[in-house]
Amino acid sequence: MNDKVINAALLGLGTVGTGVYKVWKSQEPEMADKIGSRLNIKKILVRNLEKAARKVDDPSVLTDSWEEILNDPEIDIVIELIGGIDPARAYILEALKAGKHVVSANKDLIAVHGRELLDAAAAHKVDFLYEAAVAGGIPIIRPLKQCLAANHMSEVMGIVNGTTNFILTRMTREGMEFADALALAARLGYAEADPTADIEGLDAGRKVAILASAAFNSRVVLDDVHIEGITKISAGDIRYAREMGCDIKLLGVARNTPEGIEAYVCPMLIPSSHPLASVNDSYNAVFVRGDAVQDAMFFGRGAGEMPTASAVMGDVFDIMRNIRADCCARIGCTCYKNLPVKKMEDICNRYFLRMQVEDRCGVLAEMTAVFAKYNVSVAQIVQKEKMARERAEVVVITDSVREGDFLTAVEELRRRESIHEISSLLRVYGEN
Ligand code: NAP
Ligand code: HSE
Repeated sequence: MNDKVINAALLGLGTVGTGVYKVWKSQEPEMADKIGSRLNIKKILVRNLEKAARKVDDPSVLTDSWEEILNDPEIDIVIELIGGIDPARAYILEALKAGKHVVSANKDLIAVHGRELLDAAAAHKVDFLYEAAVAGGIPIIRPLKQCLAANHMSEVMGIVNGTTNFILTRMTREGMEFADALALAARLGYAEADPTADIEGLDAGRKVAILASAAFNSRVVLDDVHIEGITKISAGDIRYAREMGCDIKLLGVARNTPEGIEAYVCPMLIPSSHPLASVNDSYNAVFVRGDAVQDAMFFGRGAGEMPTASAVMGDVFDIMRNIRADCCARIGCTCYKNLPVKKMEDICNRYFLRMQVEDRCGVLAEMTAVFAKYNVSVAQIVQKEKMARERAEVVVITDSVREGDFLTAVEELRRRESIHEISSLLRVYGEN
């Protein structure tokens, strides 16, 4: 037991900031025994002092002045929970330069400026930790950088957005259409007021960039990640997928191949027998594959006040232990390689294609002839039901094919008079 007090400042008292405050309060009585030091949240930066006063026991800790925190030599740790790029980036850089350790949950910032922040931390011999930036309460950055460091990781993938997983779960279980499931998610508080970043896949894309960087020891940024959202998925797509033994999930996939890193987010069919297919509602899960550990999966709450605060406070505890042991900045940037990132057109996947075709003999032969021209091999094909006006609906799952070749084949199909419409085109997750 040691009575040394380590001072921290919290930036932002929104959802996660409030959770961190609560976890700090609940841990306070045992912190000295657990960590060897006590934590004191000495200052909390807010925009509206009056509004924030209702959330804390002692409103005198509140400030709307960043300089007051930056210039306080007693504050050793800054916990950034305001989000966004500006002014978060400037605050973090200034804190690191002032010799303060920083904890952040800010995936928007780290997915773009991660290298700059980690370099600044290394230059000033302080810690910059961001466990909460990916998959909320699920430990995954620290496992990749520490527990699994003795692996060559070949894949890290998973469900890293709770809002879209909730929507797809409702569409699957209740046959809801996307717009109704989104409205339900908003009503129940899962979707944010502006859900664009979630439903368009951007939030998951940021997490994939951060995960791939940690897994493959090579910097991947948001612009390297191919991103598609779930807004075009229909209840009909999900019904067909299920009949073919699959579920549809918004997956973030990163693979380390001999030709380069593959990084993408898109709705994919995944075999219903895969462990990720049974990750439902707002839960997240990350699946990793390494040459030594083989397969491992991490599952839990990917967002929310308390799960995210759990990850933030885990980082704070780590830094407190480092300060006590005088061993800060032990694990900084682990991206010591400079691997190329593959273009989406060069990545191979299986595809699910749903199209409305003319209902006459010879149409399927025409379609498979186009496929054959571009090396697309058909693995499954079903003509489910005759539709009105002499149309039939055909659903195809292909074998693995280079995306560029597949899209060229699809373009040619679109030009055929016998193919009235291609209503869905989705990738199928699997080993290629
Ligand atoms: P939030 O509820 O919007 O809270 C952000 C808080 O920061 C707000 O109270 C806001 O004040 C304050 N703030 C913004 N700019 C400020 C500034 N310049 N100076 C002082 N205060 C400022 O957001 P959140 O959900 O807690 O998210 C915080 C961070 O955690 C983000 O980076 C987010 O991506 C990340 N994260 C969140 C979750 C989650 O489940 N929510 C999960 C994982 C990671 P006002 O109230 O005045 O706007
Ligand atoms: N909006 C995110 C989600 C949580 O729905 O998973 C914050 O990362």
